[in-house]
Amino acid sequence: MKTLGIFDSGVGGLTVLREIVARGSAYDRIVYFGDTGRVPYGTRSRETIIRYSRQDVRFLLSRGADEIIVACGTASANALDELKASFPQPITGVIDVSAEAAVAATKNGRIGVIGTAATIKSGVYPRKLKALSPSVEVFGQACPLLVPLAEYGFAERGNQIARLTCAHYLGGLKEKGIDTLILGCTHFPLFSGMIGEYLGPGVRLINSGAELARRLASPRAGTPALEFYVSDDPAGFCADAAIFLGAEHPVSASLTDIAAYPAD
Ligand code: DGL
Repeated sequence: MKTLGIFDSGVGGLTVLREIVARGSAYDRIVYFGDTGRVPYGTRSRETIIRYSRQDVRFLLSRGADEIIVACGTASANALDELKASFPQPITGVIDVSAEAAVAATKNGRIGVIGTAATIKSGVYPRKLKALSPSVEVFGQACPLLVPLAEYGFAERGNQIARLTCAHYLGGLKEKGIDTLILGCTHFPLFSGMIGEYLGPGVRLINSGAELARRLASPRAGTPALEFYVSDDPAGFCADAAIFLGAEHPVSASLTDIAAYPAD
C-alpha cells in the first residue's frame, strides 16, 4: 500500500490532485490536507509559511504518507528546502517541474511567472530558471486578486471582472514579449482559457500541477482512494471542491487540529 500525501493552504491544491487523478499514478491512497483555517499563505512571511508547512507535513506523515507533494505554489517557493532538510521522506514541490518545462518550451528566452506575492517575492523562479538556462529573461508578476476570484467562482471564461483583472496583471508581461508563462499558483489553471485568449496563441502556458502529474504518471494506474482533511470548515471546503477538483469527484472532508502538530 503506497500513500501519497498532498498539502496546500486550502482548496486550490485540488487542481494539482485533479491532474494526478486524471493521469493516474502508482499510489493506492492519496491523503489531501487543506489548511483552510490559515489560508491564505500567499500574503504571509517566509517564516510563517515554513512553520505552517512543517505542521502540514507532520500531519500527512501521521496519516501514513510515504511521500509528500507540496501542491501550494507559495509553500513550494518558500519552504521546500527547509522541509527537505527536516524530513527524510521524499518531498516534491511544483517549482522545479515548472521551471524545467518553461525552459524546454521557450523559443525567445523570455519567460513570465505569475504567483502569489510571497511566491514572486521569494525570487525562486528567476533563480531556478537561470540555473537551468543562464540566458533566459524572467519577468515576475504577483496576481493576488485571482485567488479570491477563483474561490468565489469568477473564473468562468466570460466573467468580465476576471477578464479585467487578468488584463490588469498581465499587460506588463505582454509588453515584455514573453512566449512562455508559468502559472505559479494552484488557482491559476482555472484562468487558463482567459489568460490564453489575452496573451494570444504565441504564449505557452505552463500548468505546474499538470507538469507534476506527468512526472508521477505510471502505467500501473489504478484509482487511488482519496481522503481529505482540513483545518477549518469542512463543509465550505467540500462545496468549493467542485470548482477545483471537478464535480465528478464528490468530496467529504474531516476536520483536524493542525496546531497540535509541531512547527519546528
Ligand atoms: N495555494 C496558494 C498558492 O498556490 C494560493 C492561495 C494562498 O495564498 O494560500 O500559492
